[in-house]
Amino acid sequence: MLDQLKNKVVEEISQAKDLNKLEEVFRTYLGRKGELTKVLRSLKDMSAKERKKKGQLANQIKNELDQLIEDKKKGLGSDLKPKEWIDVTAPGTKVSRGYLHPLTLVQREIEEIFQSMGFSVLDGPEVETAYYNFDALNVPKDHPARDMWDTFWLKGLDLLLRTHTSPMQARYMEKNNPPLRVIVPGRCFRHEATDATHGFQFYQFEGLMVGEDVSAANFKAIIEEFFKKFFSSSDIQIRLRPSYFPFVEPGFEVDVKRGKGKWLEIMGAGMVHPNVFEASGYTKKWQGFAFGAGLERLAMIKYQIDDIRLFFSSDLRFLKQF
Ligand code: PHE
Repeated sequence: MLDQLKNKVVEEISQAKDLNKLEEVFRTYLGRKGELTKVLRSLKDMSAKERKKKGQLANQIKNELDQLIEDKKKGLGSDLKPKEWIDVTAPGTKVSRGYLHPLTLVQREIEEIFQSMGFSVLDGPEVETAYYNFDALNVPKDHPARDMWDTFWLKGLDLLLRTHTSPMQARYMEKNNPPLRVIVPGRCFRHEATDATHGFQFYQFEGLMVGEDVSAANFKAIIEEFFKKFFSSSDIQIRLRPSYFPFVEPGFEVDVKRGKGKWLEIMGAGMVHPNVFEASGYTKKWQGFAFGAGLERLAMIKYQIDDIRLFFSSDLRFLKQF
């Protein structure tokens, strides 16, 4: 008899089409005056033996039906609720975005500063001929100065991975007439062991300015202005020390001091060597300066980064800081 009752209720629960109908089923069988409730109440008038047998079954059925109704309620409820309203105050899911690499940021900033001073930005080939990387820059074959740049040569070809951005001086002057002002950012390669301050690949930017009376004093003024903008500080000092590069005469090493900080060696520079002008077909009427600086070094100083290897590590903890 109890089993029959159970089947009937199960059937009615499954047929219930809405919450009201379900409520009605509950009231009829499981509510205070429900049929099953009555059975449970009548247990107390039964003999101990019968009570035990029927009571167990009745309670088990009651629990099962309660559970069925609970589940059905959820089913009917969830059918309606999500479609009926949207919680506009719920926090959104954050989409993580990409970041510009610190070297890209620094390169763009350098380009902007020089463009504001009338320089154009050029690009050059990473695979170079020995002619542009060396010969045109007053470093003939077998000249000991070639040892200044440990070079990756491409096997069997007279080609190499450029060791600096200076070959673009020669390439540009060959095709363009003075006066001119250009900078050339780009990747360079050297056959060197890697450590915290050296990589076998790194970025440089070359600068070249040529005119009838472009002087070392002009260079100093321009480079000082550049560093003031780059470090967003007016307290910048520049110092030139004599140095040697085959493609400039005189040549110097440029040091920068920020505020009360230390002098930092930052780039090579000089007045373009007459032999370089000659290789490019320029007459003696022209003079100018050239410089070459490491992008990583500038980025390291600006952002206080202590290891050059971080730039190529793809470590997101590093990259996300910029
Ligand atoms: N090309 C030189 C280097 O990489 C730097 C430099 C450029 C020096 C231009 C003087 C003039 O070592």
